[in-house]
Amino acid sequence: MHLRGMICTISLVFVVSGMSATSDISARSAASQSPDTATLYRVNCQMCHGPGGKAPIPEMAFVGRIWKHGTKSADMAAVITNGVAGTPMMSFKRKFTPDQIKALARHVRAFDKSLPPEK
Ligand code: HEC
Repeated sequence: MHLRGMICTISLVFVVSGMSATSDISARSAASQSPDTATLYRVNCQMCHGPGGKAPIPEMAFVGRIWKHGTKSADMAAVITNGVAGTPMMSFKRKFTPDQIKALARHVRAFDKSLPPEK
């Protein structure tokens, strides 16, 4: 009786851990196909612009300052696409698709809670 209970528990653990292992793998392969925008930001932008856009260097912060190139996400997408000559802000047009750039623009714009949401 006791033994059967144990076997039951053990096989249950196997089922549960097997399930989480498969979902881990599918989450990982989905991420490598098209990483989400937050991941793109973390990997490509955060080293300069800081987590949540709170860069310690004021020129690179997205919060607590006035946007230099405009407050529409289209303005931000233009900066991300073309970069800003003469500054460390490089062009990302070869690295990302136009849709990824649009998503990144909306992502960084959303860091600034003082901006009204875009329609
Ligand atoms: C090597 C550092 C660096 C990296 C990496 C970088 N940026 Fe920038 N970014 C800057 C600097 C510096 C500026 C300010 C340029 C200027 O003075 O006009 C800037 C400006 C911007 C602006 C315009 C801000 C404004 O005030 O109008 C946006 C939007 C932007 N970056 C988005 C991004 C995104 C999105 C990424 C990642 C895909 C990224 N940046 C990666 C350094 C960087």
